[in-house]
Amino acid sequence: MVNQSKWWQKAVFYQIYPRSFSDSTNNGIGDLQGIINKLDYLEALGIDGIWFSPFFPSPQEDYGYDISDFGSINPEYGTMKDFDDLLKKSHKKGIKIILDLLLNHTSTQHPWFLESKKDRINEKRDWYVWRDGRGKNGKKEPNNWNSMVGGSAWEWSEERKQFYLHQFLTFQPDLNWRNPDVQIAMFNHIRFWLEKGVDGFRLDIIQTLFEDKYFKNNPPSWRFFPSHNSNETMFQKPKYTQFLPETIELCQKLRELVNSYSPERMLVGEAQGNLQMIKPLYGKNNDGLHLSFNFKFGGQSFSASKFRRVLEETELLLEEPYWPCYVFSNHDTERLISRQKDDKEKAKLLAVLLLTIRGTPFIYYGEEIGMLQTKVPKDKQLDPISKIKIWGIPLGFLYGRDGCRTPMQWDDSPINAGFSNDPKIVPWLPIGQNENKNVRNELRDEKSMLTFFKKLLKVRKQNESLQIGQLSISRDSNSNLLIYERSFQKQQLTIFLNFSRKKQNIVTPNKKSKQIFSTKLFEEQKEISGKITLQPYEGLIIESMKK
Ligand code: GLC
Repeated sequence: MVNQSKWWQKAVFYQIYPRSFSDSTNNGIGDLQGIINKLDYLEALGIDGIWFSPFFPSPQEDYGYDISDFGSINPEYGTMKDFDDLLKKSHKKGIKIILDLLLNHTSTQHPWFLESKKDRINEKRDWYVWRDGRGKNGKKEPNNWNSMVGGSAWEWSEERKQFYLHQFLTFQPDLNWRNPDVQIAMFNHIRFWLEKGVDGFRLDIIQTLFEDKYFKNNPPSWRFFPSHNSNETMFQKPKYTQFLPETIELCQKLRELVNSYSPERMLVGEAQGNLQMIKPLYGKNNDGLHLSFNFKFGGQSFSASKFRRVLEETELLLEEPYWPCYVFSNHDTERLISRQKDDKEKAKLLAVLLLTIRGTPFIYYGEEIGMLQTKVPKDKQLDPISKIKIWGIPLGFLYGRDGCRTPMQWDDSPINAGFSNDPKIVPWLPIGQNENKNVRNELRDEKSMLTFFKKLLKVRKQNESLQIGQLSISRDSNSNLLIYERSFQKQQLTIFLNFSRKKQNIVTPNKKSKQIFSTKLFEEQKEISGKITLQPYEGLIIESMKK
């Protein structure tokens, strides 16, 4: 049992991709005022916190993940006054705000980089990772390090006649975290936002902050594609570029920094790798990041035993006082319901899993209305990753992130789905299938995905067991079922998840049991006991009082 539960353990977070949420200025691009206009919707939905993808000044080569100024708002999205307003109004509704913190890199247009690349004697010369090249003319990459998205992690600068490191795309040069001045400057930025009152940060590709100081070559690997079990990719093990001890130490320093603020703030890491790699980010004594995303849910096929295995593995590694953090979708992955071929019953079952398991859940905007991955035609694709060529073939052929970033579907209007105030405005990315997947219709429909999400979020909020209760996973012999218990004080809840398309029989744990939620029935709570039948893909929550 969690004795002193924290707000970020109880909270359900909702990720907003600001460019795609709501456009108040009719320019086809979402903005902060647009988000403010939708705060009532978010409050009614029942979420507790919002993570915003970046809205800072940026040349938008990676749509905000290439920052040119950490301390202000991109005018496309509004002003600092709008941000202050958004923060104040969210807090008034009890909604926490966490920002995206990019510590690994800046944009090549950041004034620091513009200065750093000029020559080798300027004040910012060591703010990025610069290195002489090899070979006769010094134009061969300094070592074999690959970027996470393919190809060498080194880019030649004609101006400085040296290579700079970029663990992600070429226009995202890595900051040199071994330089104390960089640490001071970045920590000051963090303080700036903490002093404004933000409740925490999501830390972008946090595993890549430090690299080997001797620049040793990375060892080879057989893997080409990354997976949820490994961070090896493009035939390389990122041994000297990811999860270095210095990076782990920095997570602890970040924790110290946020710990000096009150009320309590929260850090959640984004790191690609398996759980064994991710756990050290939490710190040896749970004194590093509060949370780190567990992306494993996203990679599972629809099977009770597969999900059980993820839960068991996570529970083993992140037992109390460590706290897991699960997520199905975000702005880099295919949308959850599309992975289930638009099967709403399967999507609902997975939502019950996400919102009833021990850990902090993150929902991606649109997930609550069952928004699908949008098929973005080739000539409308904007994601820089889909444009990367590997062996001459654009990666967009296999992978692209535009389809999960299309405008939030507020209504069924044909041009922009109510994303802009003016229905004639064409948004920055095409809209998805919105005839029957939109907020306006779903609010009116008792059986919609949105109504389902609202009810489930309410049940979670009303039952502390679901937020902070102890978890015990059952080893039921029926391989179609995933069953677990959450208990807190006198309450005991049992969650039954039927992963099969056939009915399954179960027995309630106690004579005096009450059904408090089902994906199938939208009726009031009811007494339930003995043998009962689960409908295909049904998710059921039953309460039984401890004696
Ligand atoms: C993270 C972000 C992704 C971005 C990359 C570089 O993985 O989620 O959208 O492109 O980092 O900042």
